[in-house]
Amino acid sequence: MDSVDGSVDAVVRPKVVLGVSGGIAAYKACELLRRLTESGHEVRVVPTASALRFVGAPTWSALSGQPVNTDVWSDVHEVPHVRIGQHADLVVVAPATADMLAKAAHGLADDLLTNTLLTARCPVVFAPAMHTEMWEHPATQENVATLRRRGAVVIEPAVGRLTGVDTGKGRLPDPGEIFEICRRVLARGVEAPDLAGRHVVVSAGGTREPLDPVRYLGNRSSGKQGYALARTAAARGARVTLVEANTGMPDPAGVDVVHVGTAVQLREAVLKAAADADAVVMAAAVADFRPAAYAEGKIKKKDGVEAPVVTLVRNPDILAEISADRARPGQVIVGFAAETDDVLANGRDKLRRKGCDLLVVNEVGEHRTFGAEVNEAVVLSADGGETPVPHGPKEALADTVWDLVVPRLA
Ligand code: CTP
Repeated sequence: MDSVDGSVDAVVRPKVVLGVSGGIAAYKACELLRRLTESGHEVRVVPTASALRFVGAPTWSALSGQPVNTDVWSDVHEVPHVRIGQHADLVVVAPATADMLAKAAHGLADDLLTNTLLTARCPVVFAPAMHTEMWEHPATQENVATLRRRGAVVIEPAVGRLTGVDTGKGRLPDPGEIFEICRRVLARGVEAPDLAGRHVVVSAGGTREPLDPVRYLGNRSSGKQGYALARTAAARGARVTLVEANTGMPDPAGVDVVHVGTAVQLREAVLKAAADADAVVMAAAVADFRPAAYAEGKIKKKDGVEAPVVTLVRNPDILAEISADRARPGQVIVGFAAETDDVLANGRDKLRRKGCDLLVVNEVGEHRTFGAEVNEAVVLSADGGETPVPHGPKEALADTVWDLVVPRLA
């Protein structure tokens, strides 16, 4: 796995098992299969018998160029119920129905896919899709928690239109996004799900502090670094809550997103999500001040009248607050700091003042633009550590942050 578009070295084609269980979203797995094969992966599709009622074996076989079986009784001399799982570099089950999650959580093995799940020693990704009630049922939630605890990557379903007239949580995420998660998991190999069973909270974007119905005080944070943190954490198996402020970007797949506008709203959402979180990363640019008063009507200019003076008041410092009063013992808290000069000295000072465990310090200036795809930083730790992160994609910095968080988790 090496190129930016996710295509792989043709000599060492990673072996992917695409498990498909019986949900209407099975048709979307055709697109995932196409993305995987076209980027050079060798894909063996293992549907369940129910999945074949939605999409037939000839489709899977033609798209993958491989035989397709659902039971353990075909090609028995090749022992497929053991070999397919043993040889896989990645198993991805998309869509994963409530029934499939239950079988996987309990180790049932009554067809080729469930046998494969028991014999695989590689990372396993489940992309659940079902009606909201089925997803929210305690049985399903307990099965998901069990799978995560054991190291599986279970990505959160998307919210939107479901089968029939219903809408809610339970949609299969976009196949392109599932492909991206598979790409990240494969790139990290068997070590991939080191955040499995953990809940992490990431804040991203920049808060806007309203002045009147049409104006606000804002900042230029794009939210890209926070999104990279959320995406990489999901690919490392975490349950992720992303508290998003004004990024305008579509929700990343596989994470729970809470949309907020102001610093006060962001604080409320972060405190709520942090209650059971193992780690909180404050990547959002939170306004330190907000207008003291909000004008219900648009503030108008008037000839001969002086321009209005805007009085500001302090916003709560969320990072300092959650660091001082941890929701759980051993919760790991990470802050970000943008500095223009004396970067390391100011960073050290801020780390101490805020009381967090890690602080990602960026040097900002005229030539360092907000919204870039790349970043360069130093991660300072409360125990005196200093990890430089060279100029590179925001995903690489995100992975370094998680690499430093993992050993600190309780
Ligand atoms: N932060 C926060 N609440 C605020 C302001 C900032 O939680 N009201 C968090 C940011 O999410 C970030 C970190 O604190 O993780 C750094 O914020 P920064 O604005 O650099 O800190 P300040 O204390 O405002 O530093 P300065 O003295 O440079 O203004």
